[in-house]
Amino acid sequence: MCGIVGYIGTQAAVPVLIDGLERLEYRGYDSAGIATAAAGKIDCVRAKGKLLNLKEKLSHHDNGAQLGIGHTRWATHGKPEERNAHPHLDRSGRFAVAQNGIVENYQILKEELQAKGYEFRSETDTEVIPHLIADYYQALPDPTAPDSFLTAVQQAALRLEGAFAIAVLCADAPDELIVARQQAPLILGFGQGEFYCASDVTALVSHTHTVLSLENGELARLTPLGVEVYDFDLRRLRKLPRTLDWNLGAVEKQGFRHFMLKEIHEQPAVLRASLDAYLHPQWRALEQPQFSPVQLGLAPELTADLAHIQILACGTSWHAGLVGKYLLEQIAQIPASVDYASEFRYAPSPVRPQTLTIGVTQSGETADTLAALEMERERRQNLDLPYQARILGITNRPESTLGTMVDGVINTQAGIEIGVAATKTFSAQVLGFYFLALELAYRRRTLPPEQIERLLQGLRQLPNHIEAILQQQDAAIQELAHEFAETQDFIFIGRGINFPIALEGALKLKEISYIHAEGYPAGEMKHGPIALLDSKVPVVAVAMPGAVHDKVISNAQEAKARDARLIGVTSVDDAQARSVFDTLLLVPPVEELLSPLVAVVPLQLLSYHIAARRGLDVDQPRNLAKSVTVE
Ligand code: AGP
Repeated sequence: MCGIVGYIGTQAAVPVLIDGLERLEYRGYDSAGIATAAAGKIDCVRAKGKLLNLKEKLSHHDNGAQLGIGHTRWATHGKPEERNAHPHLDRSGRFAVAQNGIVENYQILKEELQAKGYEFRSETDTEVIPHLIADYYQALPDPTAPDSFLTAVQQAALRLEGAFAIAVLCADAPDELIVARQQAPLILGFGQGEFYCASDVTALVSHTHTVLSLENGELARLTPLGVEVYDFDLRRLRKLPRTLDWNLGAVEKQGFRHFMLKEIHEQPAVLRASLDAYLHPQWRALEQPQFSPVQLGLAPELTADLAHIQILACGTSWHAGLVGKYLLEQIAQIPASVDYASEFRYAPSPVRPQTLTIGVTQSGETADTLAALEMERERRQNLDLPYQARILGITNRPESTLGTMVDGVINTQAGIEIGVAATKTFSAQVLGFYFLALELAYRRRTLPPEQIERLLQGLRQLPNHIEAILQQQDAAIQELAHEFAETQDFIFIGRGINFPIALEGALKLKEISYIHAEGYPAGEMKHGPIALLDSKVPVVAVAMPGAVHDKVISNAQEAKARDARLIGVTSVDDAQARSVFDTLLLVPPVEELLSPLVAVVPLQLLSYHIAARRGLDVDQPRNLAKSVTVE
């Protein structure tokens, strides 16, 4: 939530900041602003709404400054108005601050500052920061001393509670940009005589591939000569940057109308990359190999003697976790639970021994998920050995905060996802669960090797199947979407391993098309939601071949009897489905256990085309942000 960017170097700062904000806009788009420092003055321009509005304001605004910060906002405290847009200034206009996060003790700090005569112009929590810095700065014995700016920011940072990342300018220090991080991401970028900071590497890749992620409790001073990193006690730290192996194409649309459509189409390549990374090419059941077919590279103690697996996630990642639970229980025979991280934090289930905790997150920065994992580690660490935390992350961003706090990571190989609606990252997370379940099944001998090999062959076919769906169904689904331009409610139903796909279909539709949609277990409809049905409410049933196929068909018939328009996600060879559904979203035949990864694709396309047809901002839907770094 919120994106911050900063630049110091030899170029004009404004275009660099705008370019960075464009690449961070997926993190929030309620307002945007930049502040630059030159000739002992800070120049701040802000605008309500999307970055476009700021760009218009800046069109004749090249002040030549080579130092600046920028911000794109997802509103928490205070409406999305210009007065609440960042950067915020202190009363003298000497300090400018952009923040990503929430200052939880801002009320106390505000009262303290107000009592000293500081006046507030916004309703934000952030505005306390420039005033606080100014207050510490003016109290220093010699504010003109070389480290004054750094010291004032450090003293202010020590007072802030909550999760935050800040970038700060000082009019008196035209060669310094100070940043600090506590529980919110902040990455530094290294160029030739120029340095950057940003909430995500997406804003850096067009300038540099040499980056350093700040850790919690760290400050950095960026100057044209280099970067100095300190802890919050101002002890200098030695840090080594790393090199990103990204290309710019990952953060560009490459001819697609929206990032979401591009990312839906990237799924075959992502799954192939993941299959190549983790499946052993020489593993054949008949040869009775003495090694696992899946090579996740995890420390053996992480998954040894498991009695229970606990999955923590939010949103779409939680849906991936639900598929994961099904796989871990049915394939590896390990009892598994899935919790919303935001719920688990405040009502955790009793600690169980021999538990593997899995955090699933595409951003690797979701505040609730990270806090739930941290809490799980803490509450286990004082207990006996079988209760010790073993934490695994499933993410496409192993370099994220999640990556630094877990004991092992399955890198899903999905890379960066820009569209706010998760698509390729979901498929890749689900594939990660297949790998884990199969590895555990092999080690615990819960599936015969022949069955493991059959599933592996099925997994290897999935990219081709998804390609076929994209080629054969996209145009038909686009056409179908026209029929739902005015629809107000949708119901999605599924059972067993495809119940989470019904949930995911509904979530995708509501978040980008703003149509009310419910995902429901098909068998539960008759216990209440069936009362919602009439001819105006389409029902989408995920009716893939397998144990619950006939049950789902019966539940769909019950909806049809209430005049609902029936859409079925079915296998091309399903003759029965043709006579039941009004419309078919066809996918290649695969065995039931593998069906979620094909069934989800037409649902992604359906929600995409309905939203695009309605002329909505598919990649940046209202009120949402890609990376939810606040509670
Ligand atoms: C997905 O389409 C949503 N935008 C959202 O539910 C998301 O899955 C959720 O916020 C969790 O994010 P994470 O995977 O980055 O933790």
